Amino acid sequence: MSEIIETKDLQKQYRMGEVIVEALKGVDFAVREGEFVAIMGPSGSGKSTLLHLLGGLDLASGGEVFLANRRLTRLRDTEITVMRRRHVGFVFQFFNLLPTLTTAENVALPLLLDGQSAKDSAARVAEILEQVNMGNRAGHMPDQLSGGEQQRVAIARALVADPKILLADEPTGNLDSAAGEHVLLILRRACDDTSQTIVIVTHNPTAAAFADRVVFLQDGALVHEIIGGPFNVQAITEAIARVNV
Ligand SMILES: Nc1ncnc2c1ncn2[C@@H]1O[C@H](COP(=O)(O)OP(=O)(O)O)[C@@H](O)[C@H]1O
Ligand SMILES: [Mg+2]
Repeated sequence: MSEIIETKDLQKQYRMGEVIVEALKGVDFAVREGEFVAIMGPSGSGKSTLLHLLGGLDLASGGEVFLANRRLTRLRDTEITVMRRRHVGFVFQFFNLLPTLTTAENVALPLLLDGQSAKDSAARVAEILEQVNMGNRAGHMPDQLSGGEQQRVAIARALVADPKILLADEPTGNLDSAAGEHVLLILRRACDDTSQTIVIVTHNPTAAAFADRVVFLQDGALVHEIIGGPFNVQAITEAIARVNV
């Protein structure tokens, strides 16, 4: 399997007036095509920063990010936007659906922005809504959906244009455990059935257990990883305990 994401000595500093926060201190990280990776670590360890840099949502202070064999860290803003639109789907903790659009309209949005007609996009929208078990909610407005349903719509929207990579920051952070598990089963299935590459950030051991590999960040550095998932939740909690020693 080839590597679809790679970072080399990736660094990110935030300047807060006189204070410089070192959020990433030289991270070497790679994800193979079709792999499902979870990033864990305490609050403030740099998880979101890393995910944002992988998806070109923010700029590195040093080092490199390669995405689908392009060096993201040397591209101009407009080129990064094109790369992101073509290759990356994002899912966030708070769903971020447009409140005035139906489920189907929210999911169609990336295709319409890409120049497809509503008519042409309809079949693909229906297909991806089935994949997230939301085929029977196509006409609902976001406020008529539960949190778990909204997140599954957000996943459908992220996947509708067939991105090479799905990046999700705490995708179950705002869901109860049953709804969270449903979301993770859908991600796991996307990986198993369509070789979707997935990187999630989570501090929930149950969520991380669904991944093929879990990496642990601490103070802006990768300090540990476990491979060979999906895992027992116990394997995750043991790894967390080991990292914190
Ligand atoms: N926009 C920002 N400006 C200044 N500091 C930031 C900013 N974003 C994150 N940080 C700091 O960088 C560190 C890593 O943050 P983050 O990547 O959000 O961590 P995590 O997602 O693991 O909780 C934290 O110390 C945080 O306070
Ligand atoms: Mg975060």
